[in-house]
Amino acid sequence: MPSALPLADPAPLDGLLPTSARDGAEGRNFGVYVHVPFCRVRCGYCDFNTYTSDELRGAKRADYAGQAAQEIALASTVMDALPTRPASTVFFGGGTPTLLPVGDLTSIFAAITSTWGLAPGAEVTTEANPDSVDLAYLTALKAAGFTRVSFGMQSAVPHVLATLERTHDPARIPLVVEWAREAGLDVSLDLIYGTPGESLDDWRASLEQALAQNPDHISAYALIVEDGTKLARQIRRGEVATPDDDVQADMYELADAMLSAAGYEWYEVSNWSRGEGHESRHNLAYWQGHDWWGVGPGAHSHVGGVRWWNVKHPAAYADRIAVGDSPAAGRETLDAETRETERVLLATRVRDGLVIADLAPTGRTAVAGLIADGLVDAATAIRGRIELTLRGRLLADAVVRRLLE
Ligand SMILES: C[S@@+](CC[C@H](N)C(=O)[O-])C[C@H]1O[C@@H](n2cnc3c(N)ncnc32)[C@H](O)[C@@H]1O
Ligand code: SF4
Repeated sequence: MPSALPLADPAPLDGLLPTSARDGAEGRNFGVYVHVPFCRVRCGYCDFNTYTSDELRGAKRADYAGQAAQEIALASTVMDALPTRPASTVFFGGGTPTLLPVGDLTSIFAAITSTWGLAPGAEVTTEANPDSVDLAYLTALKAAGFTRVSFGMQSAVPHVLATLERTHDPARIPLVVEWAREAGLDVSLDLIYGTPGESLDDWRASLEQALAQNPDHISAYALIVEDGTKLARQIRRGEVATPDDDVQADMYELADAMLSAAGYEWYEVSNWSRGEGHESRHNLAYWQGHDWWGVGPGAHSHVGGVRWWNVKHPAAYADRIAVGDSPAAGRETLDAETRETERVLLATRVRDGLVIADLAPTGRTAVAGLIADGLVDAATAIRGRIELTLRGRLLADAVVRRLLE
């Protein structure tokens, strides 16, 4: 079951932003996230805002592209109050965006480009499940202007995929990657490590399989046991073991060693790219506090320190859109202190992401101790920036706490 929404102020039904959201907009990029809240089945570990056909309460997948275009029209009116900025990045995530017919994705994308235009060299990504695309689908995405596809590979090992309740056949990964390349798309692979029952050798095999595809980008996430998921219930009942923190740390170290040896560079704690130009610029924009509009049920947006989130269920979203109201469920305007805390929290995780001189005096003082404890790289600090060491990446939350003390 998807997790609950944050508590905050009600959002106005016209979606209009306070004038403070305009401040400094020229210095921030603008991106668009489109949330596609549908999956064929729900994986046991996942608490993302996504719904199978049985859970739609009358909402129809076939209506979604039109509804998203209506939200984009509303967004266009709201964003007219800010300086005009073309979209630097567009990201379709889910859920499973590729469960929709390709024409639905391309028509939503066309609504985005006709509303805001695209910045030169814009990055346009969709997530995809390996069993939901073929060559024709990927070719149509490329023809429409998509530049990148991110496949949810998760693991190459059948028993790990079974514990995760993933439905795709791992043998399909080389095929879909080949099709994406043939279509001319950059390829990213998502992996998960630390699944109960997964050995270090299993994880090595998954990394080897991922590297054998020569993707442009790899994300490796430690499995998080989210409250309310089937996996959490299985663990509570003792049917499945709890993921072990020490094993997950060993797996992270193995991932970093194998990916570095293969020529990939980490640029965020869970992300490695095949050199500059292959990072996920959309995700970097989140970590760097830029502006983005999130379209769709449960999507979050951030513009100039104002953050809001849409109603979660596709049926509630459809109701709001049908009467021309903003689908926002709540919003908050971040005060200067909260913005600074979030900036440090996000930028610390990005390699070279934080300028030491921009920290509060207590944060600057903490840097020497972090270097002494082997958590922050000394050479980068001499150049005035924070870069986490491997140990620092494993303890990133603790580093952030010490920088903010
Ligand atoms: C929400 S999915 C959307 C993409 C697509 N539906 C898929 O699963 O391949 C995006 C990524 O989030 C990661 N993810 C989802 N739930 C997670 C969890 N509980 N722990 C770690 N990673 C998770 C998975 O690696 C997944 O590829
Ligand atoms: S396919 Fe992706 S979004 Fe859907 S349930 Fe599985 S992990 Fe979650």
